[in-house]
Amino acid sequence: MAADDLTVRRWRAPGRINVIGDHTDYQDGFCLPMAIDRECRVTVRPATGAPTGTAVARTDPATITATSVQEPGTVVVAADGSTDPATVEPAWGRFVAGAVAACTARGAAIPGGTWTITSSVPTGSGLSSSAALSVALVLAGVGLGGLHLDPVALARLALDAEVRATGVPGGLLDQMTALHAVPGHLLLLDCRTLTVEPVPLPRSLGFVVVHSGRARTLAGSGYAQRRAAVEATAAALGLPALRNATPDQVAHDPRARHVVSENARVLAFADALRAGRTDALGPLMLASHASLRDDYDVSTPELDRAVDRLMAHGALGARLTGAGFGGCVVGLVQRNHADDVVAKVARDLAAAGVTDPLAFAVRPGAAAGVAPD
Ligand code: GLA
Repeated sequence: MAADDLTVRRWRAPGRINVIGDHTDYQDGFCLPMAIDRECRVTVRPATGAPTGTAVARTDPATITATSVQEPGTVVVAADGSTDPATVEPAWGRFVAGAVAACTARGAAIPGGTWTITSSVPTGSGLSSSAALSVALVLAGVGLGGLHLDPVALARLALDAEVRATGVPGGLLDQMTALHAVPGHLLLLDCRTLTVEPVPLPRSLGFVVVHSGRARTLAGSGYAQRRAAVEATAAALGLPALRNATPDQVAHDPRARHVVSENARVLAFADALRAGRTDALGPLMLASHASLRDDYDVSTPELDRAVDRLMAHGALGARLTGAGFGGCVVGLVQRNHADDVVAKVARDLAAAGVTDPLAFAVRPGAAAGVAPD
């Protein structure tokens, strides 16, 4: 361990698309995400003269100095987790403080050092840049702090870190995806049992991501309000979560109706994938988008436009991905058409006045963990 302390160490975590199943995770439902080939990386250099090993006292005044390749500023947080994330500026540094606080609360003894963050996941886009950051930071915290946790415990710890950083009560979709990703596969995630079934993505199919042109952060969105509304409905029905509700029970409540119908679409999508019925996939994605737009009311005209442009240029299906309120849509395409679809949609968005339209193909990425040099 002492030798390791002098070594530069690196951890990584991928972003994700959610192919279908949004606003279901916090009601014990189903999601079908895919980690993508874009990631956040944390590189840690030990502080000069930092105490070695895991014997650092919890009261050690050592600090962690963090910088970001993409974001301005430097943040300094106490390695013992005592820095209140809300006091940290610039705001990206709150994720560092949140991760250090979450890891130390779990018993990690983190030595001081210099942490450098870099990410290829676009921010404010619904591609889980925040979760990629939180998972990579938490992996660093537990790796340096001598804890050994399984992927579900790590996902919970990363969510704890993010909630400390932002105050937003997210679900576990993003963190579970980053920690369970399997190259070449989508992940059928059961948010009640927190189990994951990898489902192969046919080689002929691929996904493209298109930014709507309107950014969002969960903190500034109606996310918490939507969540509170469906929690209240579940409680009024006497159910532990809307996972247990029947379509009849929620027929007259659009928010709850979305959650129940979306769970059914996720299972139908996974069944169709397993059975090779690829014709069924696109219509399920479009039905999901319609439900998120009309029943859950989390789409925007810009997201609807991006879906429309993808379909106009040959996508098999498309929908907003993640929380909505802005950010990205995902399109299902024939893999050998992906570059063509991307180019045509980007051209349309530029013509509609979007500055620097962002559109790209994604492939299934690998699970978070130690990063290669
Ligand atoms: C965000 C949250 C997730 C999930 C999605 C919507 O990405 O972080 O937990 O609730 O929104 O499906």
